[in-house]
Amino acid sequence: MRVAVLKGGSSLERQVSLRSAARVEDALASLGHEVAPIDADSDLVRSLKELRPDVAFIALHGPGGEDGTPQELLEILGVPYTGPGVAACIRCMDKVLAKHLLREAGVPTPDWVAFNSTAFRELGAADALEEIEARLGYPLVVKPAAQGSSLGVRFAASRDGVPEALVSALSYDDRVLLERHVPGRELAVSVLDGDPLPIVEARPKEEDRFNYEARYEIGRTEYICPADLPDDVAADVRDAASRTYSALGCTGFARVDLMLDTDGRPDVLEANAIPGLTDTSLFPMAADAAGIGFEELVSRIIELAVERRGAAEASRT
Ligand SMILES: Nc1ncnc2c1ncn2[C@@H]1O[C@H](COP(=O)(O)OP(=O)(O)O)[C@@H](O)[C@H]1O
Ligand SMILES: [Mg+2]
Repeated sequence: MRVAVLKGGSSLERQVSLRSAARVEDALASLGHEVAPIDADSDLVRSLKELRPDVAFIALHGPGGEDGTPQELLEILGVPYTGPGVAACIRCMDKVLAKHLLREAGVPTPDWVAFNSTAFRELGAADALEEIEARLGYPLVVKPAAQGSSLGVRFAASRDGVPEALVSALSYDDRVLLERHVPGRELAVSVLDGDPLPIVEARPKEEDRFNYEARYEIGRTEYICPADLPDDVAADVRDAASRTYSALGCTGFARVDLMLDTDGRPDVLEANAIPGLTDTSLFPMAADAAGIGFEELVSRIIELAVERRGAAEASRT
């Protein structure tokens, strides 16, 4: 098959995208596919029209990559693509929308409030701080609605920390959420075609506990897969991840990030429509623990893209 690998892009996660793509390109070549790497820039549509690939492998992360933007263009061009469809990408990228959908579906997610910058600038949202404190308590976590890799995620230990955390989050996105802080263990569940893979636990260094961005530096966080959990807890965690995947309408694959609270209950933070596929990423790590090597994983992801396209065509006729 001729496979276009969409990579790069202008988001802050460009470097991760290039690393994911390099690994995917190698795997595709070993599988015997014709590989066409395409940098996602203003020539994207023209390149795709010239190339006429059988399928597009989307190795883009963050806004402009996993928010439905390239997915929409590929729909217009009729090119099958990997990962979730347009609507699911939109739902996953917007943490506020995703949390509403999770709550409606009965999937546990930490309590939160959300604002956009207009609410602050024009409607006096800052005056609601007292009510927010009463509801969420401290510490709380402030994050931009749309972003990944912990960019803009801040921890506020008390009222004094809120303004700085808000300014930081608002510098990444027009919309922010303030979320109840869940003390506990940090878990990620990769889901392949609806089936949860072995759970990964992230153990950051103690000094990074409240510095979310620092953890992404190589070696600052230890990952354990499969996570050491009692069977019933692991089953609850996998169940929360599967239900998140369905509630957000994902297809192909996605990764669900969650906290395991101190009572051993999962609380879902978010779903990533295009999880990282670099050599240190969690999705390939989880697949490996399930006995699925990287090439097999890539091959399966491609198959799912082609199958979904076939199903969509059948439902239209
Ligand atoms: N409510 C919360 N309670 C405790 N830790 C949190 C909370 N929200 C986020 N975190 C921490 O910050 C990390 C990043 O948050 P997340 O919502 O996954 O956003 P993203 O990965 O898109 O930046 C999480 O993996 C977790 O370690
Ligand atoms: Mg996350």
